[in-house]
Amino acid sequence: MKFFVDTADLDDIQEANDMGILDGVTTNPSLVKEQGNVDFHEHVFKICEIVDGDVSAEVTATDFDGMMEEAHTLTQVHENVVVKIPLIKEGIKALRALDEEGIETNCTLCFSPSQALLAAKAGADYISPFLGRVDDISADGMTLVEEIREIYDNYDFETEILAASIRHPTHVKRAALAGADVATMPFETLIDLLDHPLTDRGLERFLAD
Ligand code: G3P
Repeated sequence: MKFFVDTADLDDIQEANDMGILDGVTTNPSLVKEQGNVDFHEHVFKICEIVDGDVSAEVTATDFDGMMEEAHTLTQVHENVVVKIPLIKEGIKALRALDEEGIETNCTLCFSPSQALLAAKAGADYISPFLGRVDDISADGMTLVEEIREIYDNYDFETEILAASIRHPTHVKRAALAGADVATMPFETLIDLLDHPLTDRGLERFLAD
């Protein structure tokens, strides 16, 4: 399973990368906004210089031409940029066109298996089911990941399942059990994966001895 951090915070990305287990980064407009008044493209470039892996950067246009224009600009920023496209009708058209140009894409805002099927048909490289946000409305986000896995396996789709909107280590564990290809998580969740009281207690005892 690949590990991505879901953040635009350069210090957190650097720290995760220093652990030697980071495969990439996902950002979205809300995460970039948290960084204050930064230049978007410069900021994406800085992220790409830290991590040797895919870095998702999202378009904000909602029409085909606008998405294509933003995608072309983003791919000029760095070779590791993966263009994040929303799962709407114009987005499906853009995914198909970008695939034909050999531009890597991450289809975002996926909340149903049928949406994921469309994205794969359109040639998306990644599909991002937002499991935490599904949980937020009292449904089961992990069922979504499981069903997408089954559908993609039925037809040998190569689109990678990028479990997103992860909120805690149990999400990561269950996404791994469900066969998600990637988990993107907040930096805090990555650190929380380490936590176990018996590890702390055991280490304390070993060090005392
Ligand atoms: O980047 C997309 C996704 O991971 C957002 O997560 O916590 O805002 O639902 P969240």
